[in-house]
Formats: sequence, structure tokens, C-alpha cells
Amino acid sequence: MNKKVEISFQNEKIELPVVTGSENEQAVDISKLRSQTGLITLDRGFKNTGSTSSSITFLDGERGILRYRGYSIEDLAQHSSFLEVSYLLINGQLPNINELNNFKSEITNHTLVAEDVRSILDGFPPRAHPMGVLCSLVSSLTAFYPKSLDPNRSSEEINGTIIRTIAKLPTLAAWSYKNRVRQPIIYPRNDLDYSSNFLHMMFALPTLNNNVNPIVANALDKLLILHADHEQNCSASTVRIVGSSHASLYASISAGINALWGPLHGGANQAVIEMLEQIRNDEGNVKKYVQKAKDKSDPFRLMGFGHRVYKSFDPRARIIKKTCDEVLEQLGVTDPVLDVAKELEEIALKDQYFIDRSLYPNVDFYSGIIYRALGIPTDMFTVMFALGRIPGWIAQWKESREQNEPIGRPRQIYTGEKQRDYINIKNR
Ligand code: CMC
Repeated sequence: MNKKVEISFQNEKIELPVVTGSENEQAVDISKLRSQTGLITLDRGFKNTGSTSSSITFLDGERGILRYRGYSIEDLAQHSSFLEVSYLLINGQLPNINELNNFKSEITNHTLVAEDVRSILDGFPPRAHPMGVLCSLVSSLTAFYPKSLDPNRSSEEINGTIIRTIAKLPTLAAWSYKNRVRQPIIYPRNDLDYSSNFLHMMFALPTLNNNVNPIVANALDKLLILHADHEQNCSASTVRIVGSSHASLYASISAGINALWGPLHGGANQAVIEMLEQIRNDEGNVKKYVQKAKDKSDPFRLMGFGHRVYKSFDPRARIIKKTCDEVLEQLGVTDPVLDVAKELEEIALKDQYFIDRSLYPNVDFYSGIIYRALGIPTDMFTVMFALGRIPGWIAQWKESREQNEPIGRPRQIYTGEKQRDYINIKNR
């Protein structure tokens, strides 16, 4: 039986259909609400609004479940590789051996970026944050591949754009760091796997080859898998909404990178390490910062805590915490902020304020400590998140285009002045 929701407004009753997803989650379809009643819905921050139906990622925040195309994040993090997960997210199925090899070889063949990108990079000052540089460079790809701008692009052209985006992102990301530290850029090496190639371009010098440590490359690959998609979050929604105007994939991904940058979203990983350092330099007084986070007159928040959808635990954070211990042990690294992080987590999880609001460590709480152990500088943390999220953004953009979604255009309730006459400047 088709379920319906009945609402009454000004003595009129209307029925709205209920849509049910494959995991039995349910939504009221309000697409006819305005035409039937004149009402719109108001939902600041879209806390209660589904913007689309999607078959990419399933997330149950109450039970701490995250699956890409039906496969659990735990399974993928343990058994898969980042490029295999990328193929899965974008194409819907795990690849067979031939499909995976072809995918890898196509990506490997497109790692180089046009030489002219170097002059764009040279225009940035040394203090430029790598996230700002990265989104500009991604946007600049539209200049090198103008066919990507054509709203009637062929599926072949779209596939080429997808491959180029995944292939060139590590090069652009590493170059945004080289600009920051004023070192010469390093070209990609196609004999290396995806994560090793990125680490090579980050840390090698023209005078010194960097032998990539496989422990570091494997840990990075796992982190990229954990970040690969997260359904309709701020940046994925941005990518879909920009794509809904038929903008190119490069432009949409560039917008996604900007959306990710903020400290409430992907920028939290940088903010967490800065917060932990601040606490450590303040005599490790964890309790003081827990108090500050609870004080409503203090803007301070515990960075890396809380999530819009996870209300019991963030499954990515669990894997990352375990990986963090393993990686630090394997690399023989001790990081005093790890102790601060663990103490902070322990105190906060027992505190009624955090219990009442279901606030738990999220993906960003421990990831920065691993990045640091891998030698990644703090202002590159969010770039690492962006690198991981690329296949997710691509899959979201592609699905939205394939579903021929209409242009995204929310409505509003206007609270400004009613109509009034223009007043000459002399009379104001
Ligand atoms: N520290 C202290 N209080 C918090 C925190 C925090 N980190 N997060 C939420 N709260 C409180 C908030 O003040 C509010 O309290 P009250 O009900 O008394 O007004 C309540 O918890 C609900 O918070 P909200 O801001 O309405 O929740 P939201 O769903 O709009 O925000 C969030 C989610 C992630 C933006 C928020 O928890 C936050 O700012 N966390 C810190 C930043 C962070 O770690 N972001 C990374 C998120 S995971 C990576 C990603 O996928 O983006």
C-alpha cells in the first residue's frame, strides 16, 4: 500500500505521498505542496530535508553505519584500495581485474598537467593557503579543456573529464604545497601507485629522490578511502547544486573544494590540531577547554566533535583512531597531542553536556594526528580531505546529471521591508 501523509491547512486537507528508500528510510514528498496550498517548507541548514534520492552512499547516523554502494566502510578500508573505491563510487560496482587495470592505467596516463599551470601557480604569493590554490587550479582546468564546458558534452567527454580530475588532483595538490614552501615543483611518476606518487610529488626535491615509505603510502590510501564519500553533506550538495546549472565538472569540484574548506566541515582537521596544540601549550588543561566548549557565551567549540547526522558514533572516527595507534607505532612516532586528544575524548564522552547532545569524535578528530605522523604539514590537512573526496564529488555530480535533476533553487521567507519609495540622498 502506498503510504501518504495527510495535512490540513485552512480547513483544506491534502495528501502527500511518502517515498521509501531501499533501507526503509522514509520521506514526505512535498514537491506539490506549494501548488496545492501556497505553503513552502522552512528548514534552515536543511536539517530535515532530503535534496535528492541517491544510490551512492548509505548512512545511518543512529546506528553508526556508512556504506558505499552497499559495501561497509569497515570492509572497504580493510580490503580495498582508493582507486578501486573510486571506481566503485563512480560506476556503481566493484571492478573486475581488467576493469581495474584499465581504470588505473587511464588515470596514470593523465597525471601530468599542462605546463601553463605552472605560470598560474607562480602568481600565488608564498603565504597562499593550499586550499585556495587548489580550488583555483582545478577551476583553471576549464581553460585547458574547454569542451568540458559544453552542456551537451558526450559521455566520452564526461568520462575523459572524470579520469583527468582523479589523475591530476594529486599533482595539483602537491604543487599547491610546493608553492607554499617555495620549493620547485616535482613532476608525477607513473611507475608509482596513486598514493605513493602523491607523496613523491610532495616530498621529493630535484636534488633528492624521496623513497616513499610503504607504511606511509598504505596509511594514506586508507585515509583517502575513509574520506571518499559522505552523501549529501555541505560540499557534496554544493557540487550537485553547481552542476545543476550545467556548469562543468571542474567548476563544480572547485566549488566543492571551497565548501569543504570551512572549519565546520573539512577544515576541522586543521582546526583540531591547532586546538590540541593550544591545549598542550596551556599546560594540557583539558578540563578548561571542555568548560569553554560548554559555555554558551564563549564561541569556542570542541573541534572534531559532533556531527549533523551521526548521533551514536562516527564509524570513520573509530577506524581512524585504531589506525592512528597502529601508524604511530609502525613509524615509531610519539606525538604528545595524541595524549591530549585521548584525554579530551575521555572527559567529553562522560560529560552530561556532550551526552545530552550526542556529541562524539568525528572523522577529523584523529585524522590530523595521522597526517602529522606521515609528515603532512597542518595547512595541507584539508587538501588531503579534498583529495579523498574527489571520487565522491564526481559520483554525486554524475548521478545528479544522469537523473537530469532540475536547477537547485531553494525558496525563502522574506522578512525585509515592504515596498517603499526611493528617497533622494539630500533628504535622508
Ligand atoms: N562543541 C561544543 N558544542 C557543540 C559542538 C562542539 N563541537 N557541536 C555541537 N555543539 C552543540 C551546539 O552548541 C548545540 O547546542 P544547543 O542545543 O545547546 O544549542 C548542539 O550541540 C547542536 O549543535 P548544532 O551546531 O545545532 O549541530 P549541527 O548539526 O548544526 O552542527 C557540526 C554539526 C559538525 C557543524 C557541529 O557539531 C560542530 O561545529 N562541530 C565542530 C566542527 C567539526 O568538527 N566539524 C567536522 C564535522 S565531520 C567532517 C565533515 O564531514 O564535515
